[in-house]
Amino acid sequence: MNHLIAPSVLSADFANLQRDVEMLNNSQADWLHVDVMDGLFVPNISFGFPVVKAIKQHAEKPLDVHLMIADPDRYIKDFAAAGADGITVHYEACTHLHRTVQAIKDAGCKAGVAINPATNVQLLKDIIADIDLVLIMSVNPGFGGQKFIQNTYNKIVEAKQLIASAQSSAVIEVDGGVDTSNATQLVQAGANVLVAGSSIFSGGDPSSAISGLKNA
Ligand code: DX5
Ligand code: ZN
Repeated sequence: MNHLIAPSVLSADFANLQRDVEMLNNSQADWLHVDVMDGLFVPNISFGFPVVKAIKQHAEKPLDVHLMIADPDRYIKDFAAAGADGITVHYEACTHLHRTVQAIKDAGCKAGVAINPATNVQLLKDIIADIDLVLIMSVNPGFGGQKFIQNTYNKIVEAKQLIASAQSSAVIEVDGGVDTSNATQLVQAGANVLVAGSSIFSGGDPSSAISGLKNA
């Protein structure tokens, strides 16, 4: 499969969200990555249901909702109702991960599990066959614009092996510090979906930044 690009709307201009979502509609973006932070699981607060609903109203591409929240079980149905197409929860935030994954699927969404930089890929062994996506964090979650962690490449290779040995159909997504300097190597290591926020929105031409990542 060719790799997909999922721009993170966390780096969009919230005062011009409709404009930025329409820019993404007209770009080579494949998904819209939507970062929800609760100020508890991560030290930052981003936005919640009303903003996800507003994005959904204008988006012509799937919403890839990344929940950086404690006990996400509490809100799976609400995020599905707000318009999520895929919901990714953190391994570190779920006491009963299998139940949470089933709840995401029951809500009609693709199910993803994210792991922090210090979380071992092998901990996904007993859930890998049940999920649609593995999200490997290449920064500590909570903020855009952080420095990419090099060990991510090793983790992608390990995740790929785990997926193959379980005959899982899960895709590998990488999130944090992704730009044109590392995109090619990430795809070569086995990444299927690249999330990027600041490298897309901080320059003058987000749409061509997306094309740059797409052509990596
Ligand atoms: C980080 C978020 C990321 C973030 C990526 O906690 O999960 O999705 O928006 O931003 P950049 O690409 O700027 O690292
Ligand atoms: Zn994210």
